[in-house]
Amino acid sequence: MPHRVKGVVARAKGAPVSIETVVVPDPGPGEALVQVQACGVCHTDLHYREGGINDDFPFLLGHEAAGVVEAVGDGVTDVAPGDYVILNWRAVCGQCRSCRRGRPWYCFNTHNAKQRMTLEDGTELSPALGIGAFIEKTLVAAGQCTKVNPETPPTVGGLLGCGVMAGLGAAMNTGNVQRGDSVAVIGCGGVGNAAVAGAILAGATTVIGVDVDDRKLAWARDFGATHVVNSRGTDAVEAIRELTGGFGADVVIDAVGRPETYEQAFYARDLAGTVVLVGVPTPDMRIDLPLIDVFGRGGSLESSWYGDCLPSRDFPVLIDLYLQGRLDLDRFVSETIALDQVEAAFDKMHSGEVLRSVVVL
Ligand SMILES: NC(=O)c1ccc[n+]([C@@H]2O[C@H](COP(=O)([O-])OP(=O)(O)OC[C@H]3O[C@@H](n4cnc5c(N)ncnc54)[C@H](O)[C@@H]3O)[C@@H](O)[C@H]2O)c1
Ligand SMILES: [Zn+2]
Ligand SMILES: [Zn+2]
Repeated sequence: MPHRVKGVVARAKGAPVSIETVVVPDPGPGEALVQVQACGVCHTDLHYREGGINDDFPFLLGHEAAGVVEAVGDGVTDVAPGDYVILNWRAVCGQCRSCRRGRPWYCFNTHNAKQRMTLEDGTELSPALGIGAFIEKTLVAAGQCTKVNPETPPTVGGLLGCGVMAGLGAAMNTGNVQRGDSVAVIGCGGVGNAAVAGAILAGATTVIGVDVDDRKLAWARDFGATHVVNSRGTDAVEAIRELTGGFGADVVIDAVGRPETYEQAFYARDLAGTVVLVGVPTPDMRIDLPLIDVFGRGGSLESSWYGDCLPSRDFPVLIDLYLQGRLDLDRFVSETIALDQVEAAFDKMHSGEVLRSVVVL
């Protein structure tokens, strides 16, 4: 019997989201039905609503979620009803050319539930990042469910499902920050501040937060940034160079994803340093750099998909660090809200009032 539950849907480009009745099928082979307990509001949800990801409207938004498995389909052995899980949007296949080379975090063939959730009139919904979790129950591929210690409050567990993992991983996995490194993070929203936290956890000794909003910079300080720069009035590249002995940082993380911030990241790193792009650009954006500088500055220009995380490896470890008091995830939760407050949360995100609004179901 399909389930009829309330979910947050973006029907058309730029239009406010609405609460709709969604029909959720029972799990088929390889699928799991998850009772969502909490789901964070991520900038990527807003990108979807604005048509910045693709045009497959209507979208079922929400993708930073934790909850409890209610039912599983045939052939599912890794999770069972009653398991407490964080949902991930990169269920690795184990078969593709990247998985076979031992690099499953790049899996080129990640998968989602095969059956579609629909509106009552049968219109198929596109779930954000293959999840769709601003809803009481969602249908995902079983591989999208990662079991973690159930002592974790769902409000913080869910955050690891996307933005916070992306930021932590941008520093710890993609940027491979080492003890004693200098790191600059451009854009100190949920993702950027997670990158600040990840850089600290990895042993960086100089961590510079850059943003155009002083509130975000104050939060960056709370997460352990040793220096902050408001780039509205100050040249970010010069400021980062000044704070790193005139050289630039070993690793610069762009957690905004715009041509101007990428260019700042490119020039604010030391010779042979690393740039990590974790902010998501829109399809119209272009970058123009002198090729001689790409060559002459050396190092590596990396993109970070989901913090290059392997959910089965990284989620349980990060949750253990949280439960031991070594990774402050509670600090990311600015407010908890109800399902019908997602649109208001987008406004607060836009005006910079929150790091994360988390929908509690
Ligand atoms: N790569 C991934 O896997 C992944 C995962 C999740 C989110 N993201 C992306 O990461 C980005 C950040 O997400 P978020 O949830 O932290 O968003 P957010 O809105 O909370 O944070 C963005 C921050 O950037 C700042 N900012 C904007 N323009 C700036 C500029 N020119 N210079 C410096 N700072 C500037 C804002 O003040 C804000 O603090 C988004 O593009 C999102 O889509 C990527
Ligand atoms: Zn694969
Ligand atoms: Zn996200």
